[in-house]
Amino acid sequence: MSETGEAGPARLEAWRERVEGCLAGWMDALAARPGCPPDLAEAMRYALLGGGKRLRPLLAMAAAEATGAEPGLALEAGCALELVHAYSLVHDDLPAMDDDDLRRGQPTCHRRFGEALAILAGDGLLSLAFEALARAFPDERAARAVGLLAAAAGPAGMVGGQADDVRPWDGRALPLAEVESIHLRKTACLLVAALELGALAARAGEPALLALGRAGRALGLAFQVADDVLSFTGDEASLGRPTTSDQARLRRLHPLLAGLPASRARGQALLAEARAALLPFGERAQALLSIVDRVQARLGA
Ligand code: IPE
Ligand code: IPE
Ligand code: MG
Ligand code: MG
Repeated sequence: MSETGEAGPARLEAWRERVEGCLAGWMDALAARPGCPPDLAEAMRYALLGGGKRLRPLLAMAAAEATGAEPGLALEAGCALELVHAYSLVHDDLPAMDDDDLRRGQPTCHRRFGEALAILAGDGLLSLAFEALARAFPDERAARAVGLLAAAAGPAGMVGGQADDVRPWDGRALPLAEVESIHLRKTACLLVAALELGALAARAGEPALLALGRAGRALGLAFQVADDVLSFTGDEASLGRPTTSDQARLRRLHPLLAGLPASRARGQALLAEARAALLPFGERAQALLSIVDRVQARLGA
């Protein structure tokens, strides 16, 4: 069967199953680990295994493939990123942050296990991610991989974007550039890291890493615009949670500030940027391009 065309979605689905298997295996190992309290392991498993598109591991695997390597080489690195993503969602849903009751159609982690255990489950997932990453790169690449993920997840990356996103609204009109800066850090940074870690797992050269990073940045920004569009248009089924969030968050929704047509146009332009950055990879970027298509479908454009 060809590497492209109709085989695309089936291949991504097969990869997604490998991701699920890897994550479930890690949670089984954790539950059996002396010292890990059973309720903590259960809360971590609940936060990690309750569905999800697994976009970040798929991106890592697709990036490895784009550089000519076997996608499975990036499986563990991608799954390490998924642990960071799952932690970020647990904390994002907490009463002190977005105060959401539902995630992926199920009660949020703190709703199910209480706030204290949910906070600790998030902490546990973040720590476990670095342990997994160290295992995924047991060689001279370890320091770079760990540094890359820490920077993407940290105070000038995802956590920094989250800090700006939860700040109460001060009443002034928000410039779109400020909203995009939040999107870049809270969402795109981890997507960039997924592509870069995938390339690193494949031992790709620096030009490939740079091009994939550029694609990830544009894709990540478009992804958050699409998420905002879904929140704005009230598509709860696609989001897996209620769209009514707090007022500060609503004021920062891209379509509220730019208007729905302009938001969709911005999303389209970003997706075109992502596709252009992938051109040098030719046919090997097919899986990445089908992920770009999925984001386009979420954008509703
Ligand atoms: C949701 O991310 C939070 C954002 C960064 C917009 P995803 O839409 O990737 O969440 P899951 O993992 O598929 O539920
Ligand atoms: C979540 O952003 C981003 C991170 C967790 C890093 P949002 O608050 O916009 O995402 P949802 O709407 O809860 O999925
Ligand atoms: Mg939030
Ligand atoms: Mg939220």
